[in-house]
Amino acid sequence: MFPPLPTELLQLLLKSEIAIGDFAIDATAGNGHDTVFLAQAVGENGKVLAIDIQKQAIDSTTARLENAGLRDRVHLHHGCHSELAKIAGEQRPRAIVFNLGYLPGGDHNLITQTEKTLKAISAAWEILISGGLLAVVCYPGHDGGGDEAAAVEFLITSFADHHTARYGMLYNEKPAPFLLLSRKLG
Ligand SMILES: C[S@@+](CC[C@H](N)C(=O)[O-])C[C@H]1O[C@@H](n2cnc3c(N)ncnc32)[C@H](O)[C@@H]1O
Repeated sequence: MFPPLPTELLQLLLKSEIAIGDFAIDATAGNGHDTVFLAQAVGENGKVLAIDIQKQAIDSTTARLENAGLRDRVHLHHGCHSELAKIAGEQRPRAIVFNLGYLPGGDHNLITQTEKTLKAISAAWEILISGGLLAVVCYPGHDGGGDEAAAVEFLITSFADHHTARYGMLYNEKPAPFLLLSRKLG
């Protein structure tokens, strides 16, 4: 779509930043669109960790990866992204992507929870390499999404060394989704 949606812009902007052989994390695998994008970006020597709390999302992402022939380079984890540092172990990612809200095509009542989201984003920031990128797509128009989006913005502005931009749509009737993109400096 033009102008691009935040989810599309995320991929356009990260594409030239992720190098072959990198490690990247999709903290909300969902239907696997971002996981497939990251798996393509890191190339065959790279690795991706994709996490989702819903089995339906893990299954959907697995199928999408298999169709794309990319299953081998992705470790899928069924669990909560607030544990992402433990799941990543020694690996330090160049990029971490969060796409908040509910699983499209799934139960719209199962949404990301602010407390877990903040814990996960704090952990993500800790393990990112210097110069690495954190991308968060926020949905302030969803129930509870406005408070979550505001809390995420507040958290990111509390980080010591960051360079952050916010890109969003303009909607008529409700707050529109936006992308927060941060580079970790220092
Ligand atoms: C908007 S969808 C993600 C879309 C996905 N990035 C894609 O490309 O299709 C949000 C996902 O976050 C997941 N989620 C919600 N809370 C979570 C948590 N605590 N840990 C991990 N995943 C979570 C949901 O299950 C849902 O699949």
